This record gives sequence, structure tokens and C-alpha cells, in this order.
Amino acid sequence: MSVIIKNATILTSNNEFVGDIKIEGQKIVGLGQFEAQPYDEIIDATGKYVFPGGVDQHTHFSALCNTGDEDTAGYETTDAVITGGTTTIIDYAPQDPGKGLLDSIDYRINTRAKGKTCVDYTLHAMITYVMESIFDEVEQLPQRGVSSIKCFMAYKDSPLHVDDGTMYKIMCKSKENGITVFVHAENGELVDRLQKDCLLAGHTEPRYHAVSRPPFVEGEGTNRAIYIANQVGVPLYVAHVTCEDAVKEIRAAKGRGQKVMGETCTHYLTVTKDALGSEDFCEASKYICSPALRAQEHLDALWDALNEGILNAIVSDHCGITLDMKKQGIDDFTKIPNGAPGAADRIHMIWSEGVAKGKISKQRFVQLIATNPAKINGIYPQKGDIIVGGDADIVIFDPDFRGTIKWEDNPNGIDYNVYEGREMIGRVDSVLLRGKKVVEQAKFIGDYGQGEFIPAKCYAAAYIGLEEM
Ligand code: URP
Ligand code: ZN
Repeated sequence: MSVIIKNATILTSNNEFVGDIKIEGQKIVGLGQFEAQPYDEIIDATGKYVFPGGVDQHTHFSALCNTGDEDTAGYETTDAVITGGTTTIIDYAPQDPGKGLLDSIDYRINTRAKGKTCVDYTLHAMITYVMESIFDEVEQLPQRGVSSIKCFMAYKDSPLHVDDGTMYKIMCKSKENGITVFVHAENGELVDRLQKDCLLAGHTEPRYHAVSRPPFVEGEGTNRAIYIANQVGVPLYVAHVTCEDAVKEIRAAKGRGQKVMGETCTHYLTVTKDALGSEDFCEASKYICSPALRAQEHLDALWDALNEGILNAIVSDHCGITLDMKKQGIDDFTKIPNGAPGAADRIHMIWSEGVAKGKISKQRFVQLIATNPAKINGIYPQKGDIIVGGDADIVIFDPDFRGTIKWEDNPNGIDYNVYEGREMIGRVDSVLLRGKKVVEQAKFIGDYGQGEFIPAKCYAAAYIGLEEM
């Protein structure tokens, strides 16, 4: 199958030019101006931007913890994700109680994703059940095509929590095996104390979620993770950075020459903690995520950090948590499951709020939503840019579209959208996944199960140009 995309305004991670993209089979084979010749498909992209399919390196499809046969908001809901312009996700593979890291990875590939996923994907190992055997399992992650492992410093007294000693040992094992350590950097002890204080004072409403998880709790967690990673000499990736306090720690570490990378999420850039203040429990509970939403000054600091290269990626932290699940915490905010859906809206929100409003350039947009996540996770240059030899994962974007985000236009498999009613400046019109058109006129026309597992190269083997991110 040969395809040519004609007269596109092509946005790559470091360039913008008008030209054509030649595709043979699943790969990009030429960029430039090409004479007419027989192609199986000719796509006229006059007046459209064409950029690489998004890479979202922080998602939780199929629930945060595997729970036996139950599958909530599974990989079949990635139809909405690819319709929103993201062609690859890097999903977390949680452990079931008593199950190891490797079994959990195999389970996710064979039972959850196979036959369902509409996007290509790779996985992060994720510790959600600490047991002695996980340390040795780290050695086998590279053979499984997994290049990263996540430790939760938060969530004290839950099976997710990783204490400092465990994190240190995971870091040592990861260093030996070329694995990047990802951290959820909040001080779990402090959160626990502050939550108890709120409840003792009778404060049970969702807005106390942010009160009990203030920025200094995240700043301290980030500082500690950076300190320990520096002792070990392992590359560190700080997940979902929300505030100036954490940015300051990452800036200082990078300044000392340490290999530290950081991401923030769409919601931390575009929604303030005021969203938690609604009198309507359901409305407020949609915005319960950890770390918590912040005041405007932190949102501004995050945009600055993205431009400065202190933060390197924008992700969704997509969690398929329904309103019914959120109601578990109607009388106690600490019981509201954390997380919200957002993988389908990341590209529209970041273009509309970031590029269209002049906060980031078009090239920085491409780097943050596609190229850097692919590099950090060892799937570049197969994924993450418009480049000869790379997979033909391509978004054709109509910059003239004006509208608002509506759940019904791209249902995400959950019963709400936290960006409902937000302004849309521009829209993903069509998407190609490995050379095949799977989204047309903003509607999914592909197949469930079309996505493939993409093995990630571990840190030592991957292209990591930290200085360029
Ligand atoms: O609130 C969130 N982010 N839930 C998902 C788990 C995590 O911390 O990434
Ligand atoms: Zn997450």
C-alpha cells in the first residue's frame, strides 16, 4: 500500500515546511516535493497541519489495579484516544496482589490489550505490590521490551506505597539493567497526617483533597527521589509534576548535571484547584487526582518549565474512573478514587491552550506531546516524529476548526469528560496508524485490535538526548 499526503504544512520536532509525505506500507519513505505517480491513496492536506501521532507516556487503561476478570475502561476505549490524535500510549502494568512484575506485564498484553487496542502501546512496569521477588524481576524487563519502572512514594498504608528502602533497591537494580525509574513523588507520611487533620476537623468535602496535598509535600518527595537517584546514579523521571516547588527541585538537579526528566499533565496546565470547590459532589469529585490541582501561579510556572526544558513531556495520566466509583468518597474525600480520563483530549487541549494562545511554539508542542515521550521511553525514532524510516503515524489537523469539547463527539468510555465545554481551536481531522487511515473527519474508522505492542529499548540503548529535550 502506497500513500502520499500532498501539500501539507508539516510540523516536526524541529521544523515546519510545506511539502508531501510519501508512505510505503507502514513507514514514511520520503519527505519533500514529489512528482505525480500512481499511489494507492492520495490525501490532499492543503491548509492543514500534519504532525506526528501523539505519544502519551502516562495512562492507566483497564483500571489502576488489575482486579481479576473485571475490566474497567479497557483498551477498547482507545478508539477515542486515536480519534484525539494519540497513536501510541505507554500504559502502566500494575501488579495484582501476589503477582510479579513480569506476570503482570504478560497479563496486560495477552488478556487486556490483545484484540482490543486501537493504539500502539508499550508498558511501564509498576510496583503496586511490594514483594522480595520484584528486585530480581527488574533484570528481565529489558527482554520483555519494558524500559521503565514506577514507584509510588505516596499512598501510605496502601499496597501501592513504596518505602524509601524499597525505592533505593529498585533504583540500584534499575541502574544495573538500564531501566529508567519513574516516581510518583509525594511524601506519603505527610499526606496521611494532613488527611487525618482535615477529617478530625470535620472536613470531608472534595476540596480538602488539595488542602491535604499541598505543594510542599510534592516538593519534598521530588527532592528525596532526586537525592536518592543521584546517590545511585540512575536516570530519574518525575511523573505528573504540578507545582513550582517540584519544578525548583528538578531545575536544581539538572543544573548540577543530574539525569532527571519530568512531565506534567494536561489538567495541571489547564484546570485550577477551584474545580474542586463545586457544591455538587459529582462535579467536584471528577477533579480528584494526585497530586492535586493547583492555583494559577503554579499553572504559569509549569508552562514556563516546559519552555525552559525543565519539564519534558505533557501526558494525560488517563484513569478510567466513573462517577459511581467516585461516589465511594461521598462522605470522606480520602476515599474518592484518584484520577480522571483525558487521553482523548490531550492534543486538542494543549494545542488550544498552549499553541493557539502563544504559550508554546508548534515545534515545542510536537516535542512535548510526541517526540520526547518516544525518546524517554526508547521507542524513538520508530515513533514520535515525522521522519524518513519512522512509522507513518500521522495526524492531519484542521487549524481553522472552532468549537467546544463535547463528550458525545468522542465518547471516552467513562461517563464524563473533565474538559466538557472547553474551547477547541483546531481539530484532529484524520489519523494514520502505520500508514493506514483509521480516523476520518474526526471519526474512528479503524479496527479494534489494530494496535501493536512496541518493545522499548532500555535507557542505555535508547536515543536519549537529554540536552535536547
Ligand atoms: O490521581 C492519579 N494520578 N491517579 C493515578 C495514579 C497516579 O498517581 O498516577
Ligand atoms: Zn498515573
